[in-house]
Amino acid sequence: MKADDFNMFQSLLKQRSGLVLSRDKAYLLESRLMPVARKWSLRGLDELAQSVRSKKDERLLKDITEAMTTNESSFFRDTKPYEQFRTLTLPGLLKSRASARKIRIWSAACSSGQEPYSLAMVLKEEGAKLAGWNIEIVATDISSEILAKAKAGIYTQFEVQRGLPITHLVKYFRQRGDKWELTPDIRSMVTFREFNLLGDLRPLGQFDVVFCRNVLIYFDQPTKTRVLEGTSRLLNADGVLFLGGAETVLGITDKFKPLDGQRGVYQLASAGGSGDATPTAARPGSTFSAGLRSVASR
Ligand SMILES: C[S@@+](CC[C@H](N)C(=O)[O-])C[C@H]1O[C@@H](n2cnc3c(N)ncnc32)[C@H](O)[C@@H]1O
Repeated sequence: MKADDFNMFQSLLKQRSGLVLSRDKAYLLESRLMPVARKWSLRGLDELAQSVRSKKDERLLKDITEAMTTNESSFFRDTKPYEQFRTLTLPGLLKSRASARKIRIWSAACSSGQEPYSLAMVLKEEGAKLAGWNIEIVATDISSEILAKAKAGIYTQFEVQRGLPITHLVKYFRQRGDKWELTPDIRSMVTFREFNLLGDLRPLGQFDVVFCRNVLIYFDQPTKTRVLEGTSRLLNADGVLFLGGAETVLGITDKFKPLDGQRGVYQLASAGGSGDATPTAARPGSTFSAGLRSVASR
């Protein structure tokens, strides 16, 4: 690929999605943009680059941006964040939101939906405890194509074999030919919306829990800072942020502090307390700790 064309795609992607593409990843442009060129009846990346420069067609730019996203995901990815959510975050929220009975969760780069649906399954497992609660899971992504797959809630055998407990497969999926379809009760718990993390995040409203996992890795440091600081403004004072295994706030922003002993989980720096991950109500010795043990031992 010509250096001019590489530079043009590189700055287009950085500006539209935050993706930082180094020269050694030029092969990714070749493999992912050829289908876009074909879709637009162009003969190759030279013609695609020319077309971008001359037409400035928003649909073409969107196709290029979406084609370059990495949509890798799986149910209960990395296991631990979901354990932490179930055994620490949720019991804390059940206590602190007992009068409002309302919890809002944001899956900030939800890809094909496994992340928000995993959270929905965790909540569903709580059963009667959440009866009468208003629980909202808002799942967003920049890619309309991947959101269409997420909304459909249909997964291959390979996808349901990665991370999903067999009990959940039996309970929450129905077999459709060689695919697996999520049951309507789980699908209806999640609202999907196309949304760019580089934009103004405020229209999404306030959240108690944010899962922003495995997306910051594609951004440069100023973009990470901008997204994390925007997220800090959406988080309620005692809210919790979950990042991916290769992501951190350290050296990026001072708006968050890590929760002690909980890798990848953060609270607002302005929040009170020592950074102990265990909500006060669930610490040993409190009357609530017995409840936590019964949740954790299931
Ligand atoms: C690797 S997936 C992560 C999925 C899920 N969070 C997980 O951890 O399994 C990254 C997702 O981020 C989305 N993405 C990339 N840039 C984005 C942006 N600027 N705004 C919103 N979503 C973005 C991609 O479309 C992709 O679906």
